[in-house]
Amino acid sequence: MDNSNVRARYDKFSRLLHWVCAVGIIYASIVGYALHFITDKKIFAFFSELNMSLATVVTVLMVMRFVWRFFRPSVPYGSHITGAKKGAIVFMHELFYLIIFVVLISGFIMLEHGYRLFGLVNIPQPVRNEAVNHFFFMIHRGGCIALSVMLLLHVAAVAKHHWVDKNPILSRMR
Ligand code: HEM
Ligand code: HEM
Repeated sequence: MDNSNVRARYDKFSRLLHWVCAVGIIYASIVGYALHFITDKKIFAFFSELNMSLATVVTVLMVMRFVWRFFRPSVPYGSHITGAKKGAIVFMHELFYLIIFVVLISGFIMLEHGYRLFGLVNIPQPVRNEAVNHFFFMIHRGGCIALSVMLLLHVAAVAKHHWVDKNPILSRMR
């Protein structure tokens, strides 16, 4: 059998995208919630626009990441992860992607005005309809909660596999 494509860890591009997106998404979540505590309008606007700018970059990276998944070398799980267990992991990863795209897309549709990308380029409001904006704000809020729960589950699952089951899963993404 030709084993040349059997890898023990994700390719460099996938690893880079995973960690850059992870930092971007975790930062955007923390700041998104922290904005509730900022009363100064200028400081609020600064962090809000920075968050939208970073999320715009994350959107481009996530699309690249999504497409790259179909072409990258596969990274099979060992013989200890098969059947329903493997199915559950793949399902959770698919769900993770879905939730991220719901958060990103709803973020754009909810906008009640445009924003300046890193203070440089004007991005116009995509949908000019207050009721639609409001509906997608609700979707964004729900999506952000689901994303936080998913992230906690993801980190807990990785920690369990790595440290409790002594299956060095972290090395697949390092
Ligand atoms: C918001 C942040 C994160 C997101 C969206 C995310 C998403 C994902 C996704 C979708 C995968 C499947 C592989 C892929 O398609 O790229 C994955 C794999 C992985 N992630 Fe994360 N991740 C995040 C944060 C983290 C953190 C903080 C850790 C460290 C504990 C981590 C460790 C791993 C590991 C070890 C894998 C490989 C697991 C496997 O092959 O089954 N991730 N991640
Ligand atoms: C990486 C993906 C994203 C994450 C993790 C994220 C996270 C959050 C969080 C946690 C909140 C607060 C929710 C609440 O109050 O319940 C929020 C609000 C908000 N998000 Fe997002 N978001 C993301 C993407 C986007 C995108 C792409 C846009 C639009 C370009 C956007 C625009 C907004 C706006 C306008 C608010 C209201 C507060 C403000 O003015 O900044 N978000 N986001």
